[in-house]
Amino acid sequence: MWKQLANQWALVTGASSGLGEEFARQLAARGMHLVLVARRGEILTKLSAELHLQHGTRCHVIQADLIDPAAPKRILDEIAQQGITIELLVNNAGFGVVGEVDNVDVDRMLDMIRLNVLALTELTYRVLPGMLERGRGAILNMSSLSAFQPVAYMGVYAASKAFVLHFSEALHCELRGRGITVTAVCAGVTRTQFFDIAGASGWLQKHASHTVDFVVKRALKALSRGKQYTVPGWRNYLLTLLVRIASRARVVKESTRFFRPRPKDKRLP
Ligand SMILES: NC(=O)c1ccc[n+]([C@@H]2O[C@H](COP(=O)([O-])OP(=O)(O)OC[C@H]3O[C@@H](n4cnc5c(N)ncnc54)[C@H](OP(=O)(O)O)[C@@H]3O)[C@@H](O)[C@H]2O)c1
Repeated sequence: MWKQLANQWALVTGASSGLGEEFARQLAARGMHLVLVARRGEILTKLSAELHLQHGTRCHVIQADLIDPAAPKRILDEIAQQGITIELLVNNAGFGVVGEVDNVDVDRMLDMIRLNVLALTELTYRVLPGMLERGRGAILNMSSLSAFQPVAYMGVYAASKAFVLHFSEALHCELRGRGITVTAVCAGVTRTQFFDIAGASGWLQKHASHTVDFVVKRALKALSRGKQYTVPGWRNYLLTLLVRIASRARVVKESTRFFRPRPKDKRLP
């Protein structure tokens, strides 16, 4: 797969930090050119210069807020104007919120759905026609371990990632035999800014977590093998099996042990 994708273009959303930045680095090392999308354009510009120096990667930076309903179409129009064809779409941008119902910021919850669900769905459906026409393409959607069960105190986030997993798996099945592969990545806790932004700083220090290098390597391996989904790390994979046999009431109750906000985590970002 990577031989075919060398010198082709990948679109990576949320490439300014964490997993998205690592996807950009590992795809550049595999010889792909990159369209990098996030709100922090200056970080993307720095990254693109670095990748060009290291690997000769051609990068096109698009500063965009994917919560804006006009953003996905604007991004793809700009890409088309540049004469760029997207062979790999990495729908990675996303955020979570950990908190109690008493302190809910409704607008932030809706923004989370706009980013994690709507922008991902629109980018996927707008990129697919070109891929179908060419009879080839790949889509990698960032889901989460939280997609397998309801998660108390992180309900909207977990539900948004359940959407990503189900949507990706259905597409994977629909596109079988048409040259296009879709893989959902169900990562467990990974060392990025994610939990700080979610309002649970300090949480990561107490819980074993994977590195971005490990998760992205597993994700790209699963994609190249045409997997429907992947759960990086065998312990995490085991958890997804356990939740299938445990009662749903028990599973959601267990999640409170991990995600009930500690006193110092109670403020929302
Ligand atoms: N870390 C984990 O434990 C974990 C586990 C499972 C799944 N995930 C998923 O992995 C993905 C990446 O998360 P991460 O851990 O790498 O977190 P991160 O370091 O906070 O990165 C999030 C990325 O999304 C971008 N982003 C956020 N809001 C955006 C917006 N409105 N428009 C455009 N881009 C936006 C951010 O860029 P800007 O701020 O520059 O816009 C950043 O590049 C997310 O979908 C997350 O749900 C993470």
